[in-house]
Amino acid sequence: MAGSLIKTCFRNRNCTNQAINYIKLQNKQYLHATKVLNHGEFEWQDPKSEDEVVNITYITKTGERVAVRGKVGDNVLYLAHRHEIPMEGACEASLACTTCHVYILKNFNDKLPDPTEQEDDLLDMAPFLKENSRLGCQIILNKDLDGLELELPKATRNFYVDGHTPKPH
Ligand code: FES
Repeated sequence: MAGSLIKTCFRNRNCTNQAINYIKLQNKQYLHATKVLNHGEFEWQDPKSEDEVVNITYITKTGERVAVRGKVGDNVLYLAHRHEIPMEGACEASLACTTCHVYILKNFNDKLPDPTEQEDDLLDMAPFLKENSRLGCQIILNKDLDGLELELPKATRNFYVDGHTPKPH
């Protein structure tokens, strides 16, 4: 029982309090046994009021349009994961891959903060780079982004994550 909870916790970043307590008991030094492990947990929470709703649309590489009711503060990578949109995010938003590459449609680029130098450097290595390319994991929703449309590129490349062998996918 505990073993499967721990696996779920580490593999899917879905740590129940029971799993966290078990890890704490097993690791007296509390290694990685905090809620910080729960990447994307915030994005699994529904908006608490209409004031914080931010409606966005993902367009998959097959052209399917998926309308999503996000909220202020959501990271569009983790929001995509919640709604089973195939935005990989191999490095989990640590700016070490380009698998969260997206195109920003409808001139919403002007409403986003400029990319950091690190994001720009990574984008230079992304396949199918365009003027409106950004890394999805760096986009945090706010009310100005209501109506945002994000299109996924035809392919992404994971060139280096934890020693992973580079290959297109
Ligand atoms: S998930 Fe790796 S840079 Fe965004």
